[in-house]
Parts: sequence; structure tokens; C-alpha cells
Amino acid sequence: MRLGVLTGGGDCPGLNAVIRAVVTAGHVRHGDQTIGYLDGWRGVLDGRSTALDPLRSTGLLAMGGTVLGTSRTNPFGEPDGVERVRRTLAADRIDALVVIGGDDTLGVANRLGPMGVRAVGVPKTIDNDLSGTEVTFGFQTAVQTATEAIDRLATTAESHHRVIVCEVMGRHAGWIAAEAGIAGGAAEILVPEVPFDLDQVCAKLTARHERGQFFSIVVVAEGALPADPTLAESAAAARSGAPPDAFGHARLGGIGDWLAGQIERRTGFEARATTLGHIQRGGTPTAFDRVLATRFGVAAVEAVHDGAFGTMVALSAGSIVRVPLDQAVGHPKTLDLDLLEVAAPFLG
Ligand code: F6P
Repeated sequence: MRLGVLTGGGDCPGLNAVIRAVVTAGHVRHGDQTIGYLDGWRGVLDGRSTALDPLRSTGLLAMGGTVLGTSRTNPFGEPDGVERVRRTLAADRIDALVVIGGDDTLGVANRLGPMGVRAVGVPKTIDNDLSGTEVTFGFQTAVQTATEAIDRLATTAESHHRVIVCEVMGRHAGWIAAEAGIAGGAAEILVPEVPFDLDQVCAKLTARHERGQFFSIVVVAEGALPADPTLAESAAAARSGAPPDAFGHARLGGIGDWLAGQIERRTGFEARATTLGHIQRGGTPTAFDRVLATRFGVAAVEAVHDGAFGTMVALSAGSIVRVPLDQAVGHPKTLDLDLLEVAAPFLG
């Protein structure tokens, strides 16, 4: 078969490991040829691709980012987008696409399915907010990176008797905040799923100080907001204000600085903020993510050869399964609030 592979949306550690797995497993098991489209759906629209083979995949397993490039391109928002996708795939004689992405990129694959585009999805995002799979590859690496950062912030916060607010990624879901907050021993974890009470946050930090714990780490997901509408408006205004992307998502970032200012003003404790930002997306994947990415890539090739188009490979109870793309996209997988219950005895 001739396979096309693309990586779309925000990059994520493990993308190259999936590409390597698709190229190598396809070649070794089935004699497939694979071409890689450049910059996600943009490369398919514009007919830009590169030939891939197992030899060229050497070194990809541990490499961060994506050698194919990525973008947040939405063919449904482009003139003649669907027709251009069809034209490119026909010209390149592609039998099936392996689409590696999150909700937006896989959502495009899902919509293209009934229009004759044969695709299998692979779930990617550091945010871990994709439905249909217990975990996406890249998430574990991001949690590890954030935890190491929190560990470092804790020593300087303790030395200076400060509150340090650590802003992590997580647009709709607080998975990174919750797991890194638990792993890093945070005093407070604030997530988009649970609007927070600023008075309560400040009261808890004050109580900590009164108990003799003179420093605190507050982990806040970029999508978290206060419950109070006036404060929420003020916090939202601290965001970049950049125009939304092709899928309508606002650019977040800014809640950490806003929160540190509020905490300092309300408690009198010196406060600082650190935004981890894209540091969480860069660098080499952990061993767990390398293995998961490889399992997903191999499984995607098998799904293609079984004709299981319109599905996404996924992790379920430790096994790789196939789920309909339709069930995976369109509704983010929000945080399992049990995790916050686990964190609760250690907060405040
Ligand atoms: O890929 C998801 C994500 O990392 C979100 O957590 C974050 O809001 C967004 O991407 C940032 O996107 P960009 O790289 O376009 O600034």
C-alpha cells in the first residue's frame, strides 16, 4: 500500500516515534511505501510531501517535535479545501492516511471520511484531553517536565519564603496541572473544570504560613478562571488577546501572572509567576511515551491493512484498541475529578 502520514496541531514529544513506527512497521510487515505530508493538513492542501523510509527514520525515536512540521490548518476553512485534499491524495496515489493529531486534526479526518478520504487516527496532545483513549502520547513527558520545573521552583520559593504560581498548559482540561501538582507537592491546583474561589485560595495560603509553611507552589492550568464573574473577566483580560486559530481557539496564557499579582495584593506574601509554556511541549519523549507512540504507530498500520478507516487507535485498560473517530472528537476529555480528591489532603 501507499500510506500518507501527517502530524497536525500543537507538536508533542513522541510524534517522530509514531512516524518511525508507521514507516518501519508498514515496510517490514506489509511492504508499504510511506510519504509524509509537510505541516499537517497544510501539506495535503498544497501537495507538499517527502518520501519516508526506514533508513531515514533512524534517530527519530528519541527526537522531540516532528520532522514533518505541523500547523493548525483546517481544510474546511480553506477555499476548495476538500477538493484540494482529494486531488493531492489521488495525485500521490495514497491508499490511506495515518493522521496524527488531537481533536482538531482528527476532527478533520473524521469529516473527510464520508467524502472518500480513508484515514486512521493516532491520538496526540500533551493536554491529554482527547476522548476515546485513556491517555495520549506526549502527556506523560509534559507531566515529567512540569514536575521537574515545580521541584526547582519549590527550592527557590522556600529560600525566599514566597508563593510561586506555576502556569502549565491545559486549555480545556487540567490533566497536566493535576498530575504535575500532585507529583510536585503543590499547595494549590487550579484547573479549568473547577472555577476557583480566590478568597479561599488566599485563605488557604495564609493558613499554611500560619502553620509555619512559609512557601507555597500554586499550579494553575492556563484555562483556569475564578468563579467570580468580575474577577474572571479581569483574569481573561490578562490573556494575550491574539486572534483565534483556524479552529476558533483563543490563545491562552496569562492567568499565572494575574494570579500571582492577586495573591500578593490580598495576602501580603511575596509572589512570583512562572509560565512553563512551550517548554512542556519540547524535547525528547519519556520511555513511556516512546513505547506508547510506537504501539500506536504499529497499530495504526494494522488498522489500515484491516480496512478500519474512520477509527482511531487508543489505549484502553493497557491494551491498544480501535475506537470510531466520531466518538473521539468534538467533546474534550476533561479531568477525572477523583484526581483532585487524591490531591486534596495535601493542598492548602
Ligand atoms: O497542543 C495543545 C496546546 O499545547 C495547548 O495546551 C495550548 O493552549 C496550545 O497548544 C498552544 O498553542 P500554540 O503553540 O499555537 O501557542
